[in-house]
This record gives sequence, structure tokens and C-alpha cells, in this order.
Amino acid sequence: MNDMEEVRRQFPILGTVNYLNSCSLGALSLRAEERLSEFTQRWHRMGASAWYEHWLGAIEELRGEVAGLFNAPAATVALLPSTSACLAMIAESLEAGTRRRIVTTELDFPTLLYQWKVRPDVELVILESDDGVRVDPQKFEDAVDERTLMIATSHVFFTTGHIQNLEVLSSVAHRVGALCLIDGYQGAGQIPLDLPATGVDFYTAGPLKWLCGGPGLAYMYVREPLNRELEPRITSWFATKDQFEFNPGAFRYHDDARRFELGTPALPTVYTALGGHELVTAFGVSEVRARNQSLTQRLIEQCLEAGCSLRMSPDPETRSAILLIEHGDPGAVVRALAERKVIVDYRPGVVRVSPHFYNSEDEVDAFVGELVQAAGA
Ligand SMILES: Cc1ncc(COP(=O)(O)O)c(C=O)c1O
Repeated sequence: MNDMEEVRRQFPILGTVNYLNSCSLGALSLRAEERLSEFTQRWHRMGASAWYEHWLGAIEELRGEVAGLFNAPAATVALLPSTSACLAMIAESLEAGTRRRIVTTELDFPTLLYQWKVRPDVELVILESDDGVRVDPQKFEDAVDERTLMIATSHVFFTTGHIQNLEVLSSVAHRVGALCLIDGYQGAGQIPLDLPATGVDFYTAGPLKWLCGGPGLAYMYVREPLNRELEPRITSWFATKDQFEFNPGAFRYHDDARRFELGTPALPTVYTALGGHELVTAFGVSEVRARNQSLTQRLIEQCLEAGCSLRMSPDPETRSAILLIEHGDPGAVVRALAERKVIVDYRPGVVRVSPHFYNSEDEVDAFVGELVQAAGA
């Protein structure tokens, strides 16, 4: 049983504003701040010797936490600076030989497409959505064949909050001998994961949003045995098996997913991420999912009652805690709400609201009340 008052006390922002924008940035917790100060105190006291005694260990602690979140071995997890860096790393780990086609969708985050757009050796197929919310799995099925290198798409569309079925996507790709890459930035932390069971080859995520860990790092899952086989064309001293031998003449890839890493990770984020993960994990990702479903359902019902037009999946099971409310001038609405201390976001044509486990029912209700006034203003 989670004590909601205790949970909410961990997130001071909830005492100052109505914060409903976790899909952009998860709230900072006291726990994350404590962990960050552990880092800065050691920096003060120990300088560089903190590296060997504490910081390298903290990186491995985080890798272990992420592995737990993915329900996968630590050997399948690499830490990189951003999702874009993970995607570039994957792009630079694959040869586009006779398989030159990447199948993606118009609902995916642009950086996912940009990786391939800049490569003249790759042909990008962008699937369209019929309803502006989902892409029918049949479209992936129809688009892939022996020329396909990879399906590259999202777990949860940032544009619509729709959750895609990873087992279906990976089996569609594998049936034709292609790979499956999932951008899970909007999935990890709000949807329980068992990545090996899904069959996906690559999954990228990060602490910034639903894991409440702040900016500066991303997590990349590479399934066994690809984590030991791929040989990326961009690399670093963190990717070599003999990192601390400092031998410029000898490079050997690390045995596992660490071969995909690119230099010194952002240590402040390692610490804030550890603090954020601790709270999400203590609450339980399944419980986060259940709570977020209940808050989102409440939000949907009230928005519909208030006459809003919603862009959302018709099937509640494939809805996440990202809700899109259509509006002609969403920027103006979001600014008016911010003046009333309600923090949400917008994308072209929509106000974007994303409650998380720490939000209360009262906050959801108050948002709808303020929205009605701001949207009419
Ligand atoms: C689904 C998704 N992918 C990728 C990104 C961007 O990732 P990064 O800035 O780490 O490259 C975002 C950020 O908002 C996102 O929502």
C-alpha cells in the first residue's frame, strides 16, 4: 500500500503548482536531491579519488537498476548521453547492405527519423496513421519484406499517448529477418517492462520523464547476443574491454552492451536518476500504471463532460497517461494556465496533459476547471 501523502511530500513542486507535465519532465524529488548531494559532497571531499571509490560503482548501480526495470541482464544495458546518441549508435552498428529499408511512422519522435534521413544508403518508409492516434500493425506487416533492415518506432507515441504492442512489432520484423528498434522514452517508468519477453532487439529510454531522474543520460537495451556481436563504428575508451590499460595501440570491444558507450557519463544525472528510480521502483511500476490509468480515466471523463475534443486511442488498455486535448491555439491556453499555476504543455493543435503517480485526483479536477476558463478566455 502506498501512502500518497508520503509520496507527494517527496516532490516539492506539488506544493507550489499543479504539475501535470511529466511526459516532458518528471518532477524532482527530495530523494534525487539527496543522492545528488552525496555526489557533490564526495566531489568536495575526495576530488578524483571519488571516481574509484564511489562513482564508477554508482554507474554500475544505475545499470543494475535499469536492468531491473527492463527485466533484463545488466549485460544488455548501455548508458549514453541522450536518446539521439543511442539511435546514432544503433545506426552506426548496422550495415545497410541489401537490406536498406527502415520502416517508421509519422507519429514517432522526429529524432528517430532523422538518424536515417541523413544516410543516403538508407531508404526511409514513413507509415501514416489513419486516425491520427495509432498505426495499424497490418501497415507494418505490409511494409516489411526482405529489403527491410529494421522497424524503428515508439513504445508510446509522444504525439498521442497510444501504446504499441512490442511483441507484435518484433514478430512482424523478425518474420522477414529484420530488426526491431523501439524508442521507449515515453514507456519506461509508466508501463511495466519485460524486454527479453517482447523480443525487441533495441529499446531506448531515459530518466528524464516518467523515471523522475532529470536530463543528461539515456538507457539503451540491446538484446542477447547482439549486445556481444555488433561492432559500432563510433566508439570510446568506455567501450573497450581494457579501459584502464590506456593502450592506444590495442582496442577490443567490451564483451557486452558496454561496447556501445561513449565516454564519461553525466555523473550528476547518474545520482539524480538513482534517486528518481528508487521512488518509482518503491511505488512499483505496475502500481504506477494502475494509478496513472485511474487518473487519466478521470481526466478523460471530465474533459468529455466539459465538451473537449480528445485525441486518444479508442481502447483504454492502449492509452497511456499522455492525454491530448484539441485546441486551435494551444500555446495561448498553456500560457494562460501557467499564469494560474497549472503546468501542462502543447504540441501543434493540442494541449498535452500528463499526470503521474504523485498527482492527486484534486489536481486533475482543478486542471479541468482551469482549462474551461483558460480555453474560453
Ligand atoms: C519519444 C521521445 N523520443 C526521444 C525524445 C528526445 O530524446 P533525446 O533528447 O534524449 O535525444 C523525446 C523527448 O521528448 C521523446 O519524447
